[in-house]
Amino acid sequence: MTDTQKRIEPFGVEIDLLTGAMKDFDNYKKTMASTMIPYYADTDAIRDLVESQGNPIHYEVFEKTIPEAAGHIRVCISKLLPGKVGGEFFMTKGHYHTVLETAESYLCLAGEGFLLMKTSEGRCLWEPFRPGRLVYCPPSWAHRSINTGSVPLVSLCHYPGDAGHNYGDIVEEGFPKRCFDRGGKPAFE
Ligand code: F6R
Ligand code: ZN
Repeated sequence: MTDTQKRIEPFGVEIDLLTGAMKDFDNYKKTMASTMIPYYADTDAIRDLVESQGNPIHYEVFEKTIPEAAGHIRVCISKLLPGKVGGEFFMTKGHYHTVLETAESYLCLAGEGFLLMKTSEGRCLWEPFRPGRLVYCPPSWAHRSINTGSVPLVSLCHYPGDAGHNYGDIVEEGFPKRCFDRGGKPAFE
């Protein structure tokens, strides 16, 4: 990226703090249920969901265009729909940042759930999400959102412009814990 491409004008953006709706977003990324087949413990259940519901949206990301370069802070809204796959709560794919030494903050605006985090050495911790709770994911921890509620889990995320996303290692490694509905309560197993 050239210096000119890294230079942008100041801007503001309206975010509805109750719903997480970002007005005038530039980029929208939707992740469909079919792409989640490798991620859930119960492969038959996710395949059934994709077929019976016509491959619905699983989660969405809304953002303004901010250069993927050091010095910038990327800002986005992550919206994960509610539901379960064979008793496992809906989750995002999860990733490490390509530049491992980059952190991320998640401010939960709506819904409930967890940010599940792991290191490559196998440490695994989770922090609850509820509206108004900020979760800090330190450098080198992979992270995945989990929705344990009945409405969309919406978070406002900030992370360094040059962080990048590494999904491949999570496809290989997975996370040491999964979150299941056990008698109406989330349980990490
Ligand atoms: C950005 C970040 C979040 C996620 C979003 C979707 O670094 O952590 O905005 O990108 O929650 O999850 P993934 O990226 O795992 O598909
Ligand atoms: Zn991230």
